Amino acid sequence: MTESPDFSDNFVKKFNELIAWRRDVRRFRADAIPASLVEDCLRLANLSPSVGLSQPWRFVRVRSAEARQEVISSFETCNRDALETYEGEKRTHYARLKLEGLKEAPVHLAVFCDTGTLQGSRLGRLTMPEMLHYSVVTAVHTFWLAARARGLGVGWVSILDPDAIAKVCQAHADWRLVAYLCIGWPMQDADTPELQSAGWEHRRLPDDFLTTV
Ligand SMILES: Cc1cc2nc3c(=O)[nH]c(=O)nc-3n(C[C@H](O)[C@H](O)[C@H](O)COP(=O)(O)O)c2cc1C
Repeated sequence: MTESPDFSDNFVKKFNELIAWRRDVRRFRADAIPASLVEDCLRLANLSPSVGLSQPWRFVRVRSAEARQEVISSFETCNRDALETYEGEKRTHYARLKLEGLKEAPVHLAVFCDTGTLQGSRLGRLTMPEMLHYSVVTAVHTFWLAARARGLGVGWVSILDPDAIAKVCQAHADWRLVAYLCIGWPMQDADTPELQSAGWEHRRLPDDFLTTV
């Protein structure tokens, strides 16, 4: 057992900055990323909490040009369908948003939940089986923060057909897509979400989401 670390005031200040300056990034520079950086982030993601210590996250590196083209095509189809659900000004606004960096990002990672895993022996999942999926989200968030701490940007793309992505990734039949991540060096840093800067939505204060019973 190693000695418990001392998280200094300065560390806490830096940690707060990490949270405040994590962004969903859709604009990347073309430069490559050293593989070791992504591996570091994956190692940290693997330390994330998971129900019953099930570690149900499964990461797939999507590298080939053909596979990436299929992902891009899926996005284009799904995004066209999404646009159709808006009308008037909202539709014009939606059409102007940049909602992925699939073409620019040097690294693509698909993240699946292995719904068939035996690890954890079902502990904690009887009444809420969805906990397995939530466990994968914790790993995605850890990865996101680890990447940001190294200066990397991560963009979560959900405007995709999960079955199409599973096929591209040759995913096991039990795997369900949780996240598709674009990773690269961001064009710029920001402390404000891009959707807020674009006038689509704004962040509310924590009090808006807290009740007491
Ligand atoms: C589950 C999930 C799915 C998301 N899917 C998309 C997406 O398809 N396209 C996109 O541009 N952003 C996507 N985002 C990013 C959000 O738009 C972003 O987190 C939010 O606007 C707040 O901005 P921030 O992450 O920079 O704080 C997703 C985020 C989450 C957590």
